[in-house]
Amino acid sequence: MENKKRVLSCIQPSGMLTLGNYLGALKNWKSMSEEFDCIFAVADLHAITVRQVPKDFRQHIYDTFALLLSIGLNPEENILFLQSNVSQHTELAWLLSCYTQFGELSRMTQFKDKSLKHADNVNLGLFAYPTLMAADILLYNADLVPVGSDQKQHLEITRDIAARFNGIYGDVFKLPEPYIGKSGARVMSLQDPTKKMSKSDDNVNAWVAILDDEDTIIRKFKRAVTDSEAKVCFKEGKDGINNLINIYSAVTEKTVAEIEKEFENKGYGDFKTAVAESVADALKPVRENYKMFISDKAELERIFRSGAEKAEAIAIKTLSKAMKKVGFIR
Ligand code: TRP
Repeated sequence: MENKKRVLSCIQPSGMLTLGNYLGALKNWKSMSEEFDCIFAVADLHAITVRQVPKDFRQHIYDTFALLLSIGLNPEENILFLQSNVSQHTELAWLLSCYTQFGELSRMTQFKDKSLKHADNVNLGLFAYPTLMAADILLYNADLVPVGSDQKQHLEITRDIAARFNGIYGDVFKLPEPYIGKSGARVMSLQDPTKKMSKSDDNVNAWVAILDDEDTIIRKFKRAVTDSEAKVCFKEGKDGINNLINIYSAVTEKTVAEIEKEFENKGYGDFKTAVAESVADALKPVRENYKMFISDKAELERIFRSGAEKAEAIAIKTLSKAMKKVGFIR
């Protein structure tokens, strides 16, 4: 137990998590939990950098936490909690913000993208987002952080901030390494496979929700955009088929070569059905578990409170150490 590497990751509580969240992050979390000492949180504090409707927000937090349990994460073996339940995250974020330069935050591509998307609400939290994320990671001395390509820059700035702080005060923070998961699949839209699959897509056929029922999943895959070549192979220019191959590969753990062979003499119809069924089968237990967990909020609360207690015991030590180094009196 002691010499297992520590992994930390968080997921934002957005309404409907998609197949992209499942294959890109959650499925890896489950396999990492078997090998590492894992700490996973629902990043509710990060979510208010864009405006939330309180009632929906609350529900999304419960939903997302229930989903962590539904994919099979064990709250006895891993630490699972809500970020806002452990106050050290915001405290360390403030500290770190004084060791983070305006210029480096201005270069964050996610900040630039989101400021364009939410031009009417370019708030300080959105700008400071990476310092809160750095706090999430550094509080727990994480060795590894599984991140998709869109979060790589945030992990790099976390390392820069930690190294800068350590440079002044000595070894306080552990520098985390990025962890690229086995599948790490980047799932694209089923309707425009040059874009990432997103639940904010206006076309509901573009994305599959983790909680979609089997018929819906099959219908959405049948409508997926492909091409006119009618050959299941992975190559440039075949974005739709490439995406389906990636999804099928992530779900079944078959290699691209194996998949090409399997569908050598078959049409797109058969291939789409196979992909759809594999996805539906993989998500079925998640959906069933979710129904059970979400129906007992008191139990969910018990689990996340107990997770927060365990998280806090670690976080409090790191925060105190960092604050003492700066000169604060604890
Ligand atoms: N910013 C991440 C995302 O939107 C979520 C996140 C918050 C996170 N804190 C983190 C991920 C710490 C890894 C580690 O996907």
